Amino acid sequence: MKEQLKQLSIYQAGKTADELKSELGIAGDMMKLSSNENVYGPSPEVTRTLKQSLNLLYEYPDSHGTVLKQAIAEHYKVKEESILLGSGLDEVIMMLSRAVLKPGDDILTCENTFVQYQHHAVIEDCRIVTAPLDTGKFDLQALAEKITAHTTLIWLCNPNNPTGNYFNQSELSAFLTKAGEIPVVLDEAYAEYVTAEDYPDSFSLREKHPNIIILRTFSKAYGLASLRVGYAISSDEWTSIWHRVKLPFNVTSLSLKAAEAALKDQEYLTDVRQNNAVERQRFYASNISHYLLPSQTNFVLVKTDDINELNDYLLTFGIIARPTPVGVRITIGTAEQNTVVIKALENYFSTK
Ligand SMILES: Cc1ncc(COP(=O)(O)O)c(C=O)c1O
Repeated sequence: MKEQLKQLSIYQAGKTADELKSELGIAGDMMKLSSNENVYGPSPEVTRTLKQSLNLLYEYPDSHGTVLKQAIAEHYKVKEESILLGSGLDEVIMMLSRAVLKPGDDILTCENTFVQYQHHAVIEDCRIVTAPLDTGKFDLQALAEKITAHTTLIWLCNPNNPTGNYFNQSELSAFLTKAGEIPVVLDEAYAEYVTAEDYPDSFSLREKHPNIIILRTFSKAYGLASLRVGYAISSDEWTSIWHRVKLPFNVTSLSLKAAEAALKDQEYLTDVRQNNAVERQRFYASNISHYLLPSQTNFVLVKTDDINELNDYLLTFGIIARPTPVGVRITIGTAEQNTVVIKALENYFSTK
């Protein structure tokens, strides 16, 4: 085994709703609000398309994902040659790390962000340099101060998971100027949920900063977490490098078809964004708002010193949340679910 793998643990997914239900003896339905899935599910067009695509199961998929790439290219006004498709962003993050990181290189990111950036840096035997978050968002000034001649790849998560807050266009532009030639990955997994007007239009920065790599996924607002489709948009040069480490058939035919159908239904996506924003606002209008970090995503991060206690308390109401080192993360659910969650949180904090 590679020496550095001794530092890594095997990914532990949370327990399933059924496991927790029988363990805790809960009679009603459990609410799985631990993985930031889209509680409204995908567009009905996706289900229709999938039913019509079952005849494709015996064939290998289109290795290039040509039709989906054309649709993404058209949607963002980018070239097909700038797009890398992956089996979720998880695989995209792995491919980028594999393609550029050499033993001894530094990656730069913030503390308390998406863990896969660091996970793959360890596998590639790199050093991890971090700066703190500021109110749950990447502190780009603090991060810029950590750039050195050894920095090989920079990972930004905007809005950040697990905290939910975001940095704006002017903060990003200033940072990119300081990063110069170093490739900067912008993980925008939750971008489709953002309603803030000063959220960066990262596509508009590509010309001035050809080293940005924009990541998007169909797992979150498009509601396709199970089908695993994510993509990177970067320069043609970088994209041809990522493709050298891509597995030949990494995205299945049904996943490609589902993503095409989901992308086409922008009206449904707008409804998802609006419903989520209305429900998100209910959390900030409640009595527990001061325990929450600001969020532009489909989750809220509840700050508490007793992370496990709060998580266990929520479980007794059938609410499966996600304990993190900085608080308890809860996916914004349906209106009925949020009524239960907000009440449980208000009860919990009323005793504190
Ligand atoms: C910030 C961020 N990036 C990437 C991912 C991976 O997404 P997927 O592999 O489902 O596309 C997630 C999933 O939770 C995430 O929160």
